[in-house]
Amino acid sequence: MSIPKKIGSQFIQSPKGMRDILPQEQMWWDKFRRELDFISDYYNFIRIDTSLLERAEVFEKSLGETTDIVEKQMFVFKSRSGDRLALRPEGTASIVRAYAQHGLSHLGQPLKLFYSGPMFRREQPQMGRFRQFYQAGFEIMGGEDDAIYDAQVILVLFRLLERLKIKNVTLHVNSIGCRVCRPNYRKRLVDYYRPLVPKLCKDCRRRVKENPLRLLDCKNLVCQEYKQTAPIIVDSLCSSCNKHLKRLLEFLEELRLPYQLDHYLVRGLDYYNKTVFEFFTEATGEAGQKFDFAIGSGGRYDYLLEMFGVRQGQASGVGGALGVDRVIEVMKATKVNLGLRHKSKVFFVNIGEVAKKKSFGLIERLRDAGIMVVESLGKDSLGAQLRSANKENADYALIFGQKEAFEESMIVRDLKNGVQETVPLKNLINEVKRRMKQ
Ligand code: HAM
Repeated sequence: MSIPKKIGSQFIQSPKGMRDILPQEQMWWDKFRRELDFISDYYNFIRIDTSLLERAEVFEKSLGETTDIVEKQMFVFKSRSGDRLALRPEGTASIVRAYAQHGLSHLGQPLKLFYSGPMFRREQPQMGRFRQFYQAGFEIMGGEDDAIYDAQVILVLFRLLERLKIKNVTLHVNSIGCRVCRPNYRKRLVDYYRPLVPKLCKDCRRRVKENPLRLLDCKNLVCQEYKQTAPIIVDSLCSSCNKHLKRLLEFLEELRLPYQLDHYLVRGLDYYNKTVFEFFTEATGEAGQKFDFAIGSGGRYDYLLEMFGVRQGQASGVGGALGVDRVIEVMKATKVNLGLRHKSKVFFVNIGEVAKKKSFGLIERLRDAGIMVVESLGKDSLGAQLRSANKENADYALIFGQKEAFEESMIVRDLKNGVQETVPLKNLINEVKRRMKQ
């Protein structure tokens, strides 16, 4: 095998749409993780982590065979033992699979779970759209199918967006009915669209037969025109779905959460019943145009639990997830204050082989005493190490050379004013702590 002379950018790059989150971006992600942990703790959600690889049928059966995700976007492959596996395109179906598989219905019900992690969809990468992207979500499952849980999921997502300082958030809500009333609506919709078929886009012509609700989701301008006069689902809801929607809206009003009832919101996944919702914020595209950026969504999915064997009466689930990459894009664009406080720290400078050997142990003693130490032990020159100290924004440099090693002392230099003093090693920890308090 020949070894390439240079493994650099022109040789191997990450696959299209996959994400590297670089060190300089981590402060945004840290902020997201901190707020997610705070909110989930505050509202009593416990973390669940499911596998990134699932049997493909977990998604095929639940998201729906004719959805874009299953038809076009899943990364599916055959393992050596012949299993068809998929990289998870979303979290909800995996969590329901885990809930049923591990008998989590035996834990206190309803079970309030949260998660965050990478998802994979083979989409055309563009602003805010990746093939590997991150979601953070909340799911409430088991127990009664009470609309108060739908409202609670929405509330938690709202509060998280609030803590992340995302402005101009709008919430769209709709109901897509249940297996009793949805067939009537579907029929009304097909009756309306049938004479229009020749004028519809290619995808919608197929949707009329396979998945008529998705006709309302089409982005094609001609199809959007026809949508304006299409029948709306609220007129077809059965009394149970009607009541559920009404109660949800009452809870949202009680919580003073602003919402828009969006009759055409149907969502791209088949597992929903009753409530569906989506969060948007205003964003600015590369050409300066303003548009509604979908930053999160969710809904109720009682049949999904049934599909995985959860018995009726307990088969109730509702949840929602934020698109973390998108939320972070908005935070960056609006320059959200990350509230980072300066952490006092010292930079350890060592000069010469004798000092370097002793430095290792000394640094650990400082750290054990709770002092934050940065260093670049591989560097030898004083100038290079002081430059690193400046980059690190350290308060003091502790300079340890041959002479200091011999005399058991340390030079402590204040990096703001350059004033320095030699301190005996035995007093070093106390001296550093005293100065850092000032
Ligand atoms: P979803 O609408 O497919 O729902 O995705 C949720 C959010 O993930 C979207 O609103 C968007 O912000 C983000 N997202 C989706 N695709 C991409 C992508 N290719 N690149 C970047 N961000 C993306 C779900 O996945 C449901 N599991 C939500 C849910 C939870 N329903 C109930 N519980």
